[in-house]
Amino acid sequence: MPPQTRIDTSRPHPARVYDYMLGGKDHYPVDQELGERLPAFLRTAARQNRAFMRRAVAQAARSGIRQFLDIGTGIPTEPNLHQIAQGVDARARVVYADYDPIVLRHAEALLVSAPEGATDYIQADVREPDGILDHARSFLDFQQPVALSLIALLHFVVDAEDPYGIVGTLVAALPSGSRLILSHASLERFPDSTAELASTYASRISSQSRTREEVARFFDGLDLVAPGVVTAPEWHQDGDDAAAPEPEQSAVYVGVARKP
Ligand SMILES: C[S@@+](CC[C@H](N)C(=O)[O-])C[C@H]1O[C@@H](n2cnc3c(N)ncnc32)[C@H](O)[C@@H]1O
Repeated sequence: MPPQTRIDTSRPHPARVYDYMLGGKDHYPVDQELGERLPAFLRTAARQNRAFMRRAVAQAARSGIRQFLDIGTGIPTEPNLHQIAQGVDARARVVYADYDPIVLRHAEALLVSAPEGATDYIQADVREPDGILDHARSFLDFQQPVALSLIALLHFVVDAEDPYGIVGTLVAALPSGSRLILSHASLERFPDSTAELASTYASRISSQSRTREEVARFFDGLDLVAPGVVTAPEWHQDGDDAAAPEPEQSAVYVGVARKP
C-alpha cells in the first residue's frame, strides 16, 4: 500500500480516539488506551459536539443550503452529515474530506447517498486547503451557497500551521450566503485539567486548546447566527444534550456564521 493509505496502529490517531469516545468500534488498543486516560468531560464533549453537528447541519439545510463541504469528517457515525442534510432535502450534495486513512477505509459508508443527491470523498489535509477546494469545485457549484463544516477539526491545527489563514482561504472561495459551521475543543473552563491533558493527549497527538475569544476569531468578517459563539449544549439545545445538565461546563465552543 502507498504510505498515505497505510493505517498506523502504533500510535493514537484523532479519528480513532474520537470513535472510542463516542462508543464506536473502529479503533485500536493504542487509541483505547489513550481514550481511557482522558477525563470524563472530554467524552461528554465528544457527544455534545456530535449533537451540535446534527443541529447545525439540519438548520443549514432548512435555511436552503443544498451543498456541504465537510473537512475532518471522522469515522462514520450514524447519522452522518449527508443523512441529516438529505433528510431535509434528498438532493443535497456533500463532499467529505479527512487526512486519516482509516476514514478512507470507511468511505463507502460515506458515499451511500440518497439517489436524488450525491456524496463524494477525498483523502486530504486541511493544511492544504487549495487542493480541497480544487476537488470540491469539480463536485459542487461554487456559484451557489455552500456550508463549510470544520467540526472538531481546528484544535488539531496548531498556531504555527496558520489555522486562521487556512479558514480564511476556504471561506474566501465560497459565495455570499454560504455558511461556516465550526466547533473547537477548549480547556478554558477546565484550568485544573490543562497540565494533565498536556501530558496525556497533547503529548501524543499534536493539538491546541483555544479560548472562546480565539475560537470567535475564526468567524471574523462573517455574520454570526444567533446565539453566537457558545458552548455546544448552549447552541439551540434540544433533547440530544440531556447528558450535559451544565452547559457552562462544556469543553467545546461552537458557532455558525453566514458569509455576507
Ligand atoms: C475529533 S474528529 C471529528 C469528526 C467529525 N467532524 C465530528 O465532529 O463528529 C477529527 C477529525 O479530523 C481529522 N483531522 C485532523 N487533522 C486533520 C487535517 N490536518 N486534515 C484533515 N483532517 C484532519 C481526523 O482524522 C479526525 O477524523
